[in-house]
Amino acid sequence: MGYYEVEGGYAIDGEFAVRGSKNAVLPILAATVLVDDEVVLENCPQIADFFVSLEILQELGCSVKQEERTVTINSKGLFRNEIQEDMVSKMRSSVLFLGALLGRTKKAVMGHPGGCTIGRRPIDLHLRAFEKMGVRMEEKEGIFYCHAPLLLGYHLYLDYPSVGATENILLLAVKAEGTTVIHNAAREPEITALVRFLRSCGAEIYGEGTPTIMIEGVTQLHGTVFTIPFDRIEAGTLLCAAAMTGGKLHLKNAERQYMEQTLEVLEQTGCGLRYEEEAIYLQAPTRLLSDFTIATGPYPAFPTDMQPIMMSLLTLAKGTCMISETVFEARFRHAEELCRMGANIQMHRRNAAVFGVEKLYGTKVEASDLRGGAALLLAALAAEGTSQVYGNIYIERGYEKIEDVLTFLGGRVHLHV
Ligand code: UD1
Repeated sequence: MGYYEVEGGYAIDGEFAVRGSKNAVLPILAATVLVDDEVVLENCPQIADFFVSLEILQELGCSVKQEERTVTINSKGLFRNEIQEDMVSKMRSSVLFLGALLGRTKKAVMGHPGGCTIGRRPIDLHLRAFEKMGVRMEEKEGIFYCHAPLLLGYHLYLDYPSVGATENILLLAVKAEGTTVIHNAAREPEITALVRFLRSCGAEIYGEGTPTIMIEGVTQLHGTVFTIPFDRIEAGTLLCAAAMTGGKLHLKNAERQYMEQTLEVLEQTGCGLRYEEEAIYLQAPTRLLSDFTIATGPYPAFPTDMQPIMMSLLTLAKGTCMISETVFEARFRHAEELCRMGANIQMHRRNAAVFGVEKLYGTKVEASDLRGGAALLLAALAAEGTSQVYGNIYIERGYEKIEDVLTFLGGRVHLHV
């Protein structure tokens, strides 16, 4: 297994332009299946999950051409509606191809989605909505066989504002007959990005960014050129890295309005923050401060994806922070590894109390999911001595060459594969 070797104690300092968003590009790539024409996507992050999505598109028969961060996809030649199980098990968001394929061909076959090990992560909300819209499905030995003789718009109520379910319903409803309304829809910026993309292809969608989204089905979508917005989690990760290592960071291509909760917590820890239209400046304090609470939740609440990363930072903050993880039920696996580096964290079910310590110590730790892996890398940057952070395959799913980024910003990180 590959690992990052991190020499701790060097400040993360300098200027960096944040890349395109993982959670925005993945549903948009699935959405290209619905478009019978050429789609050009700019500012695509070069991360493992992006490449898995391109492979899926190619297997389905779509043409894919990439030049630097721009990818051109043409789904005209799509001839398959089956997603191989090995692809599905690599990446949970591949479940979005189900909605897109059904919208395009009225049929789809797919294995159960995989992804990070951060809880049960069922897809019952997706499937219930699909059934109401006319999709018939059968599950045999973990494979979903779906067909939709007639796709009809429906008034859907989500029990929980699931990001994936909202996206999947959008993909299915865009070409369904009539009007679909999603009540209690997710409001994440990545939903807004998907809607903007679909709208630029001719879809009729209203209300993105609010709990009620309305979709008027259309018969065809046309090609477009679309720029993937910045990754608010990559931005938050780098800000935390600078804050933990006593650095000073100027992030370009980062917008404050989509990361208010993360920035508010950083301000509470004593970081100096300054904002410009598309830039964020952070100056770390001499000692990070704690003594507040954080509860993750659907947007605009504190993002669950930032929880492991902020927990890593708080291990070094003076005081105590109570963290409640309300989104995923098993998202504290990084905490045990942080404790092996000297952190003092007590966990009870979905709550963790982080008692700040003066120092972390480099050691061998192992990531078991993407953001938990980033949390360990950050702890290693701030720790005394050298660490080996195992589990690069998780981190590479969502961060583009993070070892190069951190090294460029003054850290000492080498990837050994
Ligand atoms: C997306 C993001 C992920 C982020 C999460 C929450 C992508 C590719 N991934 O994941 O990074 O952490 O949103 O912001 O965009 N649930 C059900 N039944 C369902 C669907 C979800 O019970 O049918 C539950 C999940 O188990 C979880 C919660 O709802 O506890 C939130 O899941 P959801 O919002 O769907 O997250 P994802 O779309 O999987």
